[in-house]
Amino acid sequence: MPAFDDGLAETELPQGTVETDVLIVGSGPAGGSAALCLATLGIPNIMITKYRWTANTPRAHITNQRTMEIFRDLGIEAQVLADASPHEIIGDTVFCTSIAGEEIGRIRTWGTHPAREADYQLASPSLTCDIPQTYLEPILVENAAARGTQARFSTEYLSHVQDADGVDVQVRDRLTGWVYTIRAKYLIGADGARSMVAADLGLPMQGQMDIAGSMNITFKADISAYVSHRPSVLYWVIQPGSNVGGIGAGLVRMVRPWNEWLIVWGYDISQPAPAVDEEAARQIARNLLGMPELEVEITGTSLWGNNEMYATHLQAGRVFCAGDAVHRHPPSNGLGSNTSVQDSYNLGWKLAAVLRGQAGGSLLDTYSAERAPVARQIVLRANKSSREFVQFFDALGLAEAKTEAEMIERIEERKASTPRGEAIRAALAEAMELKNYEFNAHGVELGQFYTSAAIVSDGSSRPEPVRDPELYYQPSTVPGSRLPHAWVGDSRHKLSTLDLAPMTRFTLITGIAGEAWASATDKVADQLGIPLQAVVIGPGREVTDLYFDWARLREVAEDGAIVVRPDKHIGWRAMRLPEDPAGALAAAMSSLLGREASG
Ligand code: FDA
Repeated sequence: MPAFDDGLAETELPQGTVETDVLIVGSGPAGGSAALCLATLGIPNIMITKYRWTANTPRAHITNQRTMEIFRDLGIEAQVLADASPHEIIGDTVFCTSIAGEEIGRIRTWGTHPAREADYQLASPSLTCDIPQTYLEPILVENAAARGTQARFSTEYLSHVQDADGVDVQVRDRLTGWVYTIRAKYLIGADGARSMVAADLGLPMQGQMDIAGSMNITFKADISAYVSHRPSVLYWVIQPGSNVGGIGAGLVRMVRPWNEWLIVWGYDISQPAPAVDEEAARQIARNLLGMPELEVEITGTSLWGNNEMYATHLQAGRVFCAGDAVHRHPPSNGLGSNTSVQDSYNLGWKLAAVLRGQAGGSLLDTYSAERAPVARQIVLRANKSSREFVQFFDALGLAEAKTEAEMIERIEERKASTPRGEAIRAALAEAMELKNYEFNAHGVELGQFYTSAAIVSDGSSRPEPVRDPELYYQPSTVPGSRLPHAWVGDSRHKLSTLDLAPMTRFTLITGIAGEAWASATDKVADQLGIPLQAVVIGPGREVTDLYFDWARLREVAEDGAIVVRPDKHIGWRAMRLPEDPAGALAAAMSSLLGREASG
């Protein structure tokens, strides 16, 4: 076994190689979800992580509707909500000169504006909430382990070599120094923005790392009196220095209402990294709070770089990368952890289907085809949002302010009854409007659309957007879309259409006039040996269309059919009942599963 010069004793594992179906490197949102998906599907997996436990800083927090739907499917939505700050208290995003200082303006965010709330409520059974990463990761990992994942903490990925049948991964137990090999049929690199797996795999990357410097400062202080009447998770602070590096402006972020906080403050990355000791951190916190005397308990500090980089291909052979390993960007729009969870949800069922012999190996190629465009989209969106803070500074005329006194003077000018004052007020309103693309980008959050061999076209193309596609989600059942949500059920139960299609199977949804699809579905399930079940929506059937919404959303005739993949994306649809529904369905499923190519 190779030697590693780390001062730790090196010992060989006496019993030889450990074997598993899937090895996951990383226990963050991407790795934890991959483990949980695979364990839920009954696929043997080992998850390793470098550290002794999960995240020790509350980085990610905004958890969007799509991710909450995934948690709902995984059976952990209630646990997440129990540890989260609810939707109602996360939305009054404030812009100010300090928490105790002047308020410049507010924007209702994450779908909490009454005019937007309807869009969010109509689109999903789950609402956006705020759960810090320190609370989310244990839920993912504990549930994964309870369902079968072998979790190995303090275990570090070193290298891998793949062949036609599997991957040999060298890992090191950081407690004992043992270096040993795990032989897996597949490897998932969910090892974050500095991914060694992605580097070893030589994934093609676009963009740049470390384009701006940021620091996190976590602290405890009860400041309810200044914030609970304008409840939010984000309080943006415009102060001297707040446009240097960082994520657009100074940020005081709620971790727990209203006594635990995280500050994001920027620094000039072209200069040596600043030393942030406890006293410096306390000073920054007091400045942003505008409370020079406040007792602040500093609980942690760290430096990190803002990135603008994505992989254009996410896999090679038997190795896949997910999460920040393949999309690296600032936290603007709150998309990082969300997209990481969604990557793993896309990959999990595909690995399970191939490992069980239900799908051809080519199904796995659709992971990159479907998720690489999302990686690019979110990296560009998050960086654009971060840059768009400039409009805010420009509106206030702060770019030319050289001193703190000048800055204060400029900020005061917005109060003047002068043409300049009026112009500033108008420019501020415009700058605030632009922030909808960061905080209410419902189309980005929910509108992911896939084009790949695992989507069987019915010849129709994606409908033209009626409203701005970044801000507004537009439901559709064109193959490749996420299954639209509508409430269905009966006099005793209320379910989402998304609940009809659990991740453990493929689901065909039809209406009463299409009941012939049900026997066709059973036949095809038997013929192909796959988990595929029909659900008929209509009065007196499994569920009924409670508000007649599904009839408005389904786009196919009542006797048509919609095939939903385990990840709730629509794999195929038939506008009407054909003469040979079993033949049409078998052809579509074989194509979707890559069984034509591999036999
Ligand atoms: P992540 O970095 O979380 O995890 C990597 C894992 O790999 C860790 O378990 C680590 O131990 C392990 N690892 C690394 N190297 C290894 C090795 N060699 N061997 C073994 N294990 C190894 N996102 C969001 O969706 N909403 C939000 O509101 C925010 N907010 C936010 C705020 C701030 C301040 C920051 C800095 C970031 C956010 N994010 C966010 C982004 C979010 O934190 C980020 O996208 C996710 O943590 C990415 O999850 P991953 O699992 O991909 O990597």
